Amino acid sequence: MQAPNPIHILLLEDDPAHAELARRALIDAGVIFVITRVETRAEFEGHLNDTAPDIILSDYRLPTFDGLEALRIVQAAALNIPFIFVTGTMGEEVAIETLKIGATDYVLKTHLARLGPSVRRALSETLERRERYEAEVKLVQSNEQLRALTAHLQQVREQECIRISRQVHDELGQALTGLKLDLSWLVSEVINTNEALGKKVQDLADRIDATIQTVRQISTDLRPGVLDNLGLVAAIEWKANDFHLRTGIRCTTTIMVNETMWGQEFSTTFFRIFQETLTNIIRHAAATQVEVVIAVDTGRLVLIVRDNGIGITEADIASVKSIGLVGIRERAALLGGSAVFSGGPGLGTIVTVSIPLTSADRHWGLTP
Ligand SMILES: Nc1ncnc2c1ncn2[C@@H]1O[C@H](COP(=O)(O)OP(=O)(O)OP(=O)(O)O)[C@@H](O)[C@H]1O
Ligand SMILES: [Mg+2]
Repeated sequence: MQAPNPIHILLLEDDPAHAELARRALIDAGVIFVITRVETRAEFEGHLNDTAPDIILSDYRLPTFDGLEALRIVQAAALNIPFIFVTGTMGEEVAIETLKIGATDYVLKTHLARLGPSVRRALSETLERRERYEAEVKLVQSNEQLRALTAHLQQVREQECIRISRQVHDELGQALTGLKLDLSWLVSEVINTNEALGKKVQDLADRIDATIQTVRQISTDLRPGVLDNLGLVAAIEWKANDFHLRTGIRCTTTIMVNETMWGQEFSTTFFRIFQETLTNIIRHAAATQVEVVIAVDTGRLVLIVRDNGIGITEADIASVKSIGLVGIRERAALLGGSAVFSGGPGLGTIVTVSIPLTSADRHWGLTP
């Protein structure tokens, strides 16, 4: 087994005899170390910068320098090095004061048996702190990466929606319209000579008409044109009306906003959140009435969707399996905002989304 690396100790002590006693105490405690003794401020600062010690042991009073000043130098340099006072002169009150201003510990020269354990504890606490800090930094970084990935995936998904929506609308829609025109011509040609055939062809033309409606619906569901042409507020009103027509659930909208056009990322994100809340109402709420409020409040665009259904539960709100809710929160967070869910039996469900308008001019560069 490899011997452990010695720890580097910087000892601020003017009395060589006291330094020797400290050294022995550490050897007796089984600490493996190399020690550098300094007496003056210049020496202390020089070694601090050059040798980057693992720990500092310091006398309190020295002829030309003092321990408190040394502690301040270490703190000012934001060095995460444990600092232990080893002193014969420090009273209890002063000792506590030094701990308050950031010393790691103090050991009296009359109780040097405490020095080894104190050094060990200080080092392991510093290591723990460093590891915790590094883990926190990694966690923050990986959260940021995940958020960036989510944003990117949503952007890609939205671009795909726009592309497919356009293809479905233009290519499929036009092909069907062409077919319908030909069939209409055929109807007019045969209806007088062969009524049965004429009716059959008319029936085909009607079915193509219905299919054209379906294609339009699919295209609009993928990416409502109103969002790009008339903006977010119009899109929300349109969606609320469409929801009412499709489900029969009454849906009122109250708009308290003057401006209606915002950046594409902002509008799309907001709209997709709204869409998801309506989908949840259809799937889970058993509601008969939905109220939608959209308003500007202290620099934020706020959307409130309230239904009179069975009410979302606390368990639903907290569950990590509620991926739809997580998606809503995540979308809001991407724009620096938040989404809050509340409700319960007899209360229905309320979804409140609030996003700062400072993020409203963010643009994805999507071409509708
Ligand atoms: N408006 C609502 N009224 C009542 N319960 C709701 C409502 N919205 C959500 N919930 C409850 O919250 C749960 C989580 O919703 P969430 O949208 O996360 O998942 P989901 O709709 O079940 O599935 P999906 O991932 O497809 O969205 C739902 O399963 C439902 O029980
Ligand atoms: Mg859902």
